[in-house]
Amino acid sequence: MSNEVLSRGLEDVSVAETRLSQIDGEVGELTIGGFPVDELAVNATYEESVFLLLHDRLPSSEELDDFRSDLAARRGIGDEVHAVLQRAADEQKPAMDALRMGAAAATLGTGDEDVDEDIRRIVAVFPTIVATYWRYLQDEDPVEPRAEFSHAKNYLYMLNGVEPTDDEVRGLETYLNTVIDHGLNASTFSARVVVSTESDVVSAVTAAVGTLKGPLHGGAPGPVLDMLQTVHESGNPEEYVRETLAAGERLMGFGHRVYRVRDPRAAVLSEAAERFYEASDDDEFFQTVTSFEDVAVDILEEHKPDRRLQTNVEFYTAALLHGVGVPKELFTATFGISRVGGWTAHCREQLEDNRLIRPRARYVGENDRTWTPVSNR
Ligand code: CMC
Repeated sequence: MSNEVLSRGLEDVSVAETRLSQIDGEVGELTIGGFPVDELAVNATYEESVFLLLHDRLPSSEELDDFRSDLAARRGIGDEVHAVLQRAADEQKPAMDALRMGAAAATLGTGDEDVDEDIRRIVAVFPTIVATYWRYLQDEDPVEPRAEFSHAKNYLYMLNGVEPTDDEVRGLETYLNTVIDHGLNASTFSARVVVSTESDVVSAVTAAVGTLKGPLHGGAPGPVLDMLQTVHESGNPEEYVRETLAAGERLMGFGHRVYRVRDPRAAVLSEAAERFYEASDDDEFFQTVTSFEDVAVDILEEHKPDRRLQTNVEFYTAALLHGVGVPKELFTATFGISRVGGWTAHCREQLEDNRLIRPRARYVGENDRTWTPVSNR
């Protein structure tokens, strides 16, 4: 037999080299494109972060203008994509299903494109897909994208039909920069597997959307908001946490496969949320959020002393996105609007030095069966 090593969940296994982001799970550090996440998150625009990942450097002012205009020019979607999104909304499909269907349809009518064209098109069009689906779901007319608005501002504008405030845009921008890339997380791995077969970037992104949807990856922040709102009303975080754990359930927004300390993205997003809620004179809800974290971390320490369960990125995602006006049904899709920058940069990186990703499975089934004709079974 072979000398294969079995690694369930590929935990602690490296299967690619990347220059895009680096995680130290013991210390709780994350760098994206060489910048500490906190520095990138509060200074960059999302367009700068995408450029950084694709080109391994920040753009000059002229390059940034060109890149922004190029993305803005690709925001529109055709009638066929509208039809898919209208149908998804009519059938009350979840936003991630609408995003998957919209992404798959978004290259219709755009002709043969190369990898870089596909990347810019798909990054540009994600907010339009999500916002258009949302407007249909609300029985409202979709809002046309505005080319003069930044990527982040345009998304909020298309969702709500009104110009967002500067604080809302900055809050969303910080979020988009913070979660744009994160090592070989499950959805990024899916995207790399797809292009490693020399399939195309749009197929890779579609697979990644499906992977991000699950609650063990990107599907947690909606339930986190429900949890925080329940506790905000009851005023009793301890009871909530103890009852959840006693029922054998996991506390959403806590724990991580790689981090053994607080997720550094939680720190960035909690500061952004604090700034946002203070400026909006509505910090009562935010106080519930921070006191919930304190109570939950203490109880989780008793519950799993060896695991060091702390807040992950999703916990403060819920607080921040709720504050800036993203509906909770769209939290995971908004994660996708950011992470598509990372997925596509990983696709390009994979293609630069491609080797088919093809692990093995250890066979544990039967051997030595002999065939019995159906009439004798
Ligand atoms: N609440 C209660 N117990 C937990 C939690 C939690 N949030 N997370 C882990 N545990 C327990 C788990 O039950 C297990 O106990 P036991 O050994 O008795 O079965 C132990 O800790 C180890 O957990 P694990 O399943 O081996 O950990 P993992 O590395 O596979 O899972 C995780 C990481 C994020 C899936 C998990 O912590 C979890 O389910 N958290 C809740 C969902 C969540 O917040 N998801 C967002 C993930 S962060 C987004 C991203 O980066 O993509």
